[in-house]
Amino acid sequence: MRQELEDGISKELTALKPVSLGYELSPDLPIGFMDSGMGGLSVLREARKVMPEEDFIYFGDSANAPYGTKPEEEIRRCTFQVVDYLLNRKIKGLAIACNTATSAAVARLRLLYPELPLVGIEPALKPAAERFPGKEILVMATPMTIEQEKFHNLLARYENQAKIVPVPCAGLMEFVEQGSIYGDELDGYFEEHLGKYMHDDVKAIVLGCTHYPFLKKQLRAYLGDRDVQLLDGSLGTSRELRRRLEEKHLLKTKSGEGSLELLNSAGEEKTTLAKKLLALPNVE
Ligand code: DGL
Repeated sequence: MRQELEDGISKELTALKPVSLGYELSPDLPIGFMDSGMGGLSVLREARKVMPEEDFIYFGDSANAPYGTKPEEEIRRCTFQVVDYLLNRKIKGLAIACNTATSAAVARLRLLYPELPLVGIEPALKPAAERFPGKEILVMATPMTIEQEKFHNLLARYENQAKIVPVPCAGLMEFVEQGSIYGDELDGYFEEHLGKYMHDDVKAIVLGCTHYPFLKKQLRAYLGDRDVQLLDGSLGTSRELRRRLEEKHLLKTKSGEGSLELLNSAGEEKTTLAKKLLALPNVE
C-alpha cells in the first residue's frame, strides 16, 4: 500500500497532506467504483445510465464484507486498500459507493487526493425530510453508518423537519452477498426489524446502505399496500459524479457504449453474482 495511504489511516485529519496521484487525469481513463461487496452495483447501474459512454472498473471487497459491523479503523484500512488498487489502475474519478466506507474514509481521501473527482454516498435524509415534513421516516443502515458522527450531523440537520428513526440492520447486507434477495427468511428479517414501526405515520424508508436497493422487491411485498416511499441516494450520487467530472472536463468525448470491468476480492463466484444483480430491473 502507498505510504501516504498507510499514514492516512492513522493520522489525524488535520495532519494529512495532499499527495500527487502520480498520473495525469484524462477523459479516456475509466471511473473507479468501490463497495464492501455487491452494494455499490446499485449505484453503478444508475451511473451507467447517467454516463453510458464511460468505462467503469468496479471493485467489490466481499472478502472483507461486511464493513458495517467492523471498527472504524478497520473499515478505513479495507477502503484504502481498494482505493490504492484503483488508483494504481489510473482512474479519472472515484465513487465510494458504500455509506459505511464513506462515513469512515471519505474525508481523509478528499484531503489526500484533492485533484481526484471523488463522491461518497450518504443516506438520503434530505429528499425524505423535504417530501414528508412532520412525518415519520425510517432510515435502514449498517450499525456503523448509524454510529458515525457523519450520520449524527445529518440527523441534526433534518430532525426538526421530520421524525427520523434510525434502524440499524446488522446482517441484512448478507442476504445480497449470498444472492438470497427473496424468500421467507428475508421476510422474517423485515418483520423483526421493521414490524414495530408499521403504523400510518411512516411515510418513507431511506435505504441507507447500497446493498438494500437489491432487496426492494421483497421489501415492497412485505409493506403490502402501505403508502411508503423507498428512497436511496444512487441516482443523486451518480449525477454528482458526472457533474464533478464535467467541471474538470473529464467526461469522455467519444460516443458509444463504455466498458465495464467487474472485480471482487472474493473471486469469480462473486463476480458472477455481480453480473446477475446488475441485470435485475430496478424496482421503484
Ligand atoms: N454497502 C454498504 C453500505 O452502503 C455496507 C454493507 C456492509 O459492508 O456492511 O453501507
